[in-house]
Amino acid sequence: MPDYQTILVEQRGPVTLITLNRPQALNALNSQVLAELIAALEAFDAEDTQGCAVLTGSEKAFAAGADIKEMQAMGFAEMYGTNHFGGYDRITATRKPIVAAVAGYALGGGCELAMMCDFILAADNAKFGQPEIKLAVSPGMGGSQRLARAVGKAKAMEMCLTGRMMDAEEAERSGLVSRIVPLADLVEEAVRTATTIAGMAPLAVKANKEMVDAAYETTLAQGIRFERRLFHGLFGTEDQKEGMAAFVEKRPGKWTGK
Ligand code: CAA
Repeated sequence: MPDYQTILVEQRGPVTLITLNRPQALNALNSQVLAELIAALEAFDAEDTQGCAVLTGSEKAFAAGADIKEMQAMGFAEMYGTNHFGGYDRITATRKPIVAAVAGYALGGGCELAMMCDFILAADNAKFGQPEIKLAVSPGMGGSQRLARAVGKAKAMEMCLTGRMMDAEEAERSGLVSRIVPLADLVEEAVRTATTIAGMAPLAVKANKEMVDAAYETTLAQGIRFERRLFHGLFGTEDQKEGMAAFVEKRPGKWTGK
């Protein structure tokens, strides 16, 4: 495993558990965190023994945002010239699923990073927000778009304009998170959920992820056509034959990933 400074990476069977680890800055996302996250996720995506990742932080903070101290002195030319935060597109390019396990603060870039994952499990102490307006800026890692799609315009607009935080209950009610889990069980439950996903046929996992994502980028008619074509494509896999035979023969399927 490479010598990461700002994240911890461990393999729990078929699950890669990535823990943001800058406790002194409440896991604020600086460029080193981004570089290490990209490296860890690209390694995970390329490793055949790994089927799903879990991304988590500490009990106090998933991440309290982009690193304000790193950005403070930057000007337009540097921001625009280097396409600051453009690297985060490499996280959403991961083809295997990533489950966010969020406890404590998920603010600004922290909320945006959680929303880049495929779904969010929230601890009962989780708090989500886009407080950038208080710094006289705005979300910059996709928050205005993903939050609006996740919770609708009214709540997204209120949160972006006031910086108000949403607690776990409201986040679940609004569709931002899939489930609330007691804080003490969060990581174990996320790893259990990720292990279930990693136990599915790998090509079907990728196809399911890709088609749900398409719902956010296409019209309904295009999305349905895309889904159907991928569904048809899965009938060209060995694992589809095995999965359906295993059902008929009342036994668990054994996947080859082909
Ligand atoms: N960047 C850099 N450092 C941060 C940080 C951030 N986003 N958030 C917290 N820290 C640092 C604090 O400066 C502090 O460091 P020092 O001990 O050296 O002073 C340390 O982490 C602990 O933080 P606090 O003392 O503030 O802890 P608290 O419990 O009193 O408050 C908090 C917690 C409410 C989360 C508060 O830290 C806070 O408001 N943080 C900033 C939240 C924010 O504005 N996030 C958006 C950032 S901009 C962004 O993300 C842009 C984008 O869209 C991509």
